[in-house]
Amino acid sequence: MKTIVTTVDNSMDNEREYQQAVDMLAAGEVVAFPTETVYGLGGVATDEKAVEKIFKAKGRPSDNPLIVHIGTQEEVAQYAKNISLEAEQLMDAFWPGPLTLVFEQLPQVVAPNVTPGVTTVGIRMPDHPVALRLLRTLKLPLAAPSANRSGKPSPTEAKHVEKDLKGRIPLILDGGQTGVGLESTVIDMTSTPPVILRPGGITREMIESVIGLVETSHELKKEEAPRSPGMKYAHYAPEAPLFIIEANEEKIREAVTAIQEEGQKVAVIGPNNLMTTAADWYFAIGSNKNVEEMAANLYKALRQCDATEADLILAVETDLEGVGEAFMNRLVKAADGRRYHA
Ligand code: TXA
Ligand code: MG
Repeated sequence: MKTIVTTVDNSMDNEREYQQAVDMLAAGEVVAFPTETVYGLGGVATDEKAVEKIFKAKGRPSDNPLIVHIGTQEEVAQYAKNISLEAEQLMDAFWPGPLTLVFEQLPQVVAPNVTPGVTTVGIRMPDHPVALRLLRTLKLPLAAPSANRSGKPSPTEAKHVEKDLKGRIPLILDGGQTGVGLESTVIDMTSTPPVILRPGGITREMIESVIGLVETSHELKKEEAPRSPGMKYAHYAPEAPLFIIEANEEKIREAVTAIQEEGQKVAVIGPNNLMTTAADWYFAIGSNKNVEEMAANLYKALRQCDATEADLILAVETDLEGVGEAFMNRLVKAADGRRYHA
């Protein structure tokens, strides 16, 4: 299959480009498009065959439910039931934006393979001009996971999508680099209090300022089945083993030296201020005082590591406040929980 990559920016009207994407989606094809978090791979959520193509293109396990993207808040009631006051308050406060709400699902509306194994549905309205225009022109909901091959970091640039999915999908809309750079916060609104299943750009602090205390899924008992099926899969893993390391210049230099003395090459992902020429590669992802900036550049840096000959990757930790919680959540997954010890 030939993959077309089309640029859609704000400097032009792009009417033809959007129409091409809408026509393909309406005909049951899948299209990659930018959102404010990461690029998504969309297919019409009511079209079972289109949804099947998403799983195939990504190589995604078929028991992991997809998020349904909508263009207006009113549409929620077409797919979800028992929408609580708290849910309304969160949608009013943070939509469009990087927050996915999990509701009880109205049966027989979205295709069954969008929500395998669950009776709920995760819905969000993305805050990106390309995603919103696509959804509002199409006038149908889009099921859209991140547009990477399963197990790869989510794409934050069109060229990441191209690297993973070229030849497997017909169209990529290139809207430049995404803003947040980490996937949306997922919150389960079917339990009281609601439970954050995946931290993201809308932080716990922001949510609690609107609806009061919420839980986080890692506070739940271990024996309980994972409520967000995606949590059980290894994620975002770069090719070389990755270890988390303290934000300490001395410790980083010692680690780099020790690794190199074993004859291994090492890449470091960290803040600008800890940049060291001792490392074989150093990917500076932003100011240590600006975790939003570091989050926006994390996945790109993971992919850049894959393009090096590094035998080992060290990634510098941040604190857990605000978006730091989501940043560290992704880093711990990429590291499979490992920290570097001399
Ligand atoms: O920012 C995002 O959320 C991006 C963009 C494209 O919108 N999408 C995204 O989708 O990250 P995906 O499929 O890569 O991750 C969706 C996550 C998975 O962990 C999945 O298990 C969880 O959301 N999820 C989806 N529907 C769910 C449901 N009904 N109940 C519990 N978890 C759900
Ligand atoms: Mg994903």
